Amino acid sequence: QHLLGLGTVLSVVPSPVTVRAPSKVNLHLGVGDLRADGYHELTTVFQALSLADDLEIAPANSLTLRVTGEGAAEVPTDRTNLVWKAAVRLAQLAGRAPLVEITIDKGIPVAGGMAGGSADAAATLVGLNELWELGLHRDELAAVAAELGSDVPFALHGGTALGTGRGERLLPVLARNSFHWVLALAKGGLSTPEVFTELDRLRVQGNPPRLGEPQALMQALASGDPHQLAPLLGNDLQAAAVSLRPDLRRTLRAGVEAGALAGLVSGSGPTCAFLCETTESAVAVAAELSGAGVARSVRTATGPVPGARITSQDESP
Ligand code: C5P
Repeated sequence: QHLLGLGTVLSVVPSPVTVRAPSKVNLHLGVGDLRADGYHELTTVFQALSLADDLEIAPANSLTLRVTGEGAAEVPTDRTNLVWKAAVRLAQLAGRAPLVEITIDKGIPVAGGMAGGSADAAATLVGLNELWELGLHRDELAAVAAELGSDVPFALHGGTALGTGRGERLLPVLARNSFHWVLALAKGGLSTPEVFTELDRLRVQGNPPRLGEPQALMQALASGDPHQLAPLLGNDLQAAAVSLRPDLRRTLRAGVEAGALAGLVSGSGPTCAFLCETTESAVAVAAELSGAGVARSVRTATGPVPGARITSQDESP
């Protein structure tokens, strides 16, 4: 009788939920003009990569964030963190208090142009939907995600997708096969608004080339051939990122010299992403880049991978 009572009490306290949050690279990032709301009209093709953060979300007496791993010291643990905003917003919608402790184990470089903060916010939405048994559908979560930031809906979506508007309007893109990537992480980060502002400045000064439409790139993705894809990769923000961080030029050159098919700045940078032919060539390129001293650290990754998803839910009390 006594044991039964104890078991009943324990079963109503939900177990922690763990969620994997993928990083992204923009295979094509076409930046249009500055809009009246301060955002730029984008045409972008995102790919979610296996380099990821892992979150654990557990019931607690107050909202608390903890961060471990890659660049943890630079991540705020207060209300300025997008994860905090995501938890508060979803709690508001659910009509409850955000009483959870969220532990973020960073694998994605902080302020690196790989949407790590956005991925964590997307993972928080998925995790809380599960923990609180809200039963919200993906499109309902996507609407909350778009309020939080331009890259958050894609982190939820995953795979390969065409993004328009601020980047929050998504259409899935067919990508055959896995692609092999090497990521060169830079010392320090870049602020996304500052990189967009730098591009606006470069465009006032001169006429930096603009990417066209990504049709050919989408065909190359459907073919699954990295040789076809490589020459079509492009990022309008690259000129601005390199203008703010001229050392990236050397990193980009070193990756191609090491045998990558192509390299580009990931999103607003400063991470550089290199497309490679095979897993083996990615490992070789990564080793050579590490030795060349042109990056703080180097990782390999594959894409596409799924969006933010539950990795386990421990059923035991
Ligand atoms: O949407 P998010 O908060 O991630 O955007 C951060 C900043 O990046 C914006 O305030 C804006 O300066 C810039 N941005 C932009 N155009 C976009 C997306 C972001 O100018 N489409």
